[in-house]
Amino acid sequence: MWDDRSVTTEQPQTQPIPAADTAGATPDEDRATELASRGDSRSQRPTSDQFRRFIASGWDETVPEAEPLPSTAYTPARRDALVRSVPGTRMVLPAGVLKVRSNDTDYPFRPDTAFAYYSGLGTDEEPDSVLVVEPSAEDPERAEATYFFRPRAGFDSNEFYADARYGEMWVGRRPTLIEAGQRLGIEVRHIDELRDHLAKDVGAQLSLTVMPQVDAGVEAMVEEIRTQNGLPGGDEAAEEAAHLAETASEQRLVKDAYEIEQMRAAVDATIRGFQDVVRELPAAVAHRRGERVIEGTFAAAARAEGNGVGYDTIAAAGDHACTLHWIRNDGAVREGELVLIDAGVEIDSLYTADVTRTLPVSGTYTAEQRRVYEAVLGAADAVFAVAKPGMRFRELHETAMGVIAARLEAWGLLPGTAEESLAPEGQWHRRWMVHGTSHHLGLDVHDCAQARREMYLDAELVPGMVFTIEPGLYFKENDQLVPPELRGIGVRIEDDVLVTEDGVENLSSAAPRTADEVEAWIASLWG
Ligand code: GLY
Ligand code: MN
Ligand code: MN
Repeated sequence: MWDDRSVTTEQPQTQPIPAADTAGATPDEDRATELASRGDSRSQRPTSDQFRRFIASGWDETVPEAEPLPSTAYTPARRDALVRSVPGTRMVLPAGVLKVRSNDTDYPFRPDTAFAYYSGLGTDEEPDSVLVVEPSAEDPERAEATYFFRPRAGFDSNEFYADARYGEMWVGRRPTLIEAGQRLGIEVRHIDELRDHLAKDVGAQLSLTVMPQVDAGVEAMVEEIRTQNGLPGGDEAAEEAAHLAETASEQRLVKDAYEIEQMRAAVDATIRGFQDVVRELPAAVAHRRGERVIEGTFAAAARAEGNGVGYDTIAAAGDHACTLHWIRNDGAVREGELVLIDAGVEIDSLYTADVTRTLPVSGTYTAEQRRVYEAVLGAADAVFAVAKPGMRFRELHETAMGVIAARLEAWGLLPGTAEESLAPEGQWHRRWMVHGTSHHLGLDVHDCAQARREMYLDAELVPGMVFTIEPGLYFKENDQLVPPELRGIGVRIEDDVLVTEDGVENLSSAAPRTADEVEAWIASLWG
């Protein structure tokens, strides 16, 4: 449904409407009124005071008692760890702002990951809100947190019925202050109190920093308060902000029990989405843009089961599989070819899975397709066999590359031996797999991306880490260094794993992996 006017307000309007009286206006005011009404030509909404009083009256404003969110059993410990890692600092974690898609339509709102992690809020809560985490006055090892947001607007506000971006009649109601406090278990305040709270006691004993690149308005506010209170700007301020981002990323490298449970749920929902896709494969073949049929089928499952897709679905048939981030998905799905599907459901808590299966469109792999598939599977299995606590993250990739290089050597594709290829000056095998084998996974598909190298690539695996194992081989149609029968075959097999005490658990094992299992799976779903 469309609004009947273009709303261009950046912030919710909570003030009562001033009397519409422009009599005696100056030329500047006339010009301002004219500018404000631009883009408003579709409006047929009544504006009389009588109507405004009528629409503001007769509403029951009670809201049900709210329950604490399940995540709030874990968020206090997360925030305590944060203040221990970034001591003496008031940390500002904005949720982020609505982003315009076009004209008066916004993208669906998805809060910033650090905000979600430390607040426990998921889904689309709450644009323009801010979580502030700081050391407690009584015990600097413990965190105090305050949530600032714009609570539900009054029925007598312009926003209530006339603001298509924020208004209750248009996008649903925001929580009340009481309700938000009940759900989050922390102090909650109106967003208008944010500036005073941020400025209080800031100086030599207490720094102030903000998660960068989430909310430009809040960043500007923090910069101004820092300047007013004698804290350095420029590179030093940027360094503090980058340190906050890095710390928040590194803290998520090891998941707590709630996160592991959420990851299991995200993977399970994703596998159900893949089942829907397999059932729809014949419909995809029948459509001229079968890749879109696959994308749409998975998206329907992701919206029904969760918040949506955790990243743009890759539905890549035939040679498109060799384009690593093929998300245009406008190709045909042809009998006899493979289709690579890389997709993940982001559930309401915002945790996402990241799974890839490469399926034979007609239900069975050809000999050449199976040969490539089994090489990739061999690389994945080799990683599964060695991944355990104490191993370095970078060794996951090295293990996979050992298998891939050996296969390519056996097929005569390398200009030297596998050993030479694996040496730093060789690396010929990377022509056919330019991406990495593993990345951390959680609230972000490429989770913990700001972690330092020593905490990520060079770090040892620890129980509670969740990452992908996703080797692949991609022989492009126009690759003259591979035999014609391999050209146009791209295969990736991607699973999501949890590091246990003595190895890894494959969270996505319910999605068949071997060529035989995949064929049997397809046959059973086509029944
Ligand atoms: N789906 C993106 C990736 O596998 O990293
Ligand atoms: Mn991945
Ligand atoms: Mn993926």
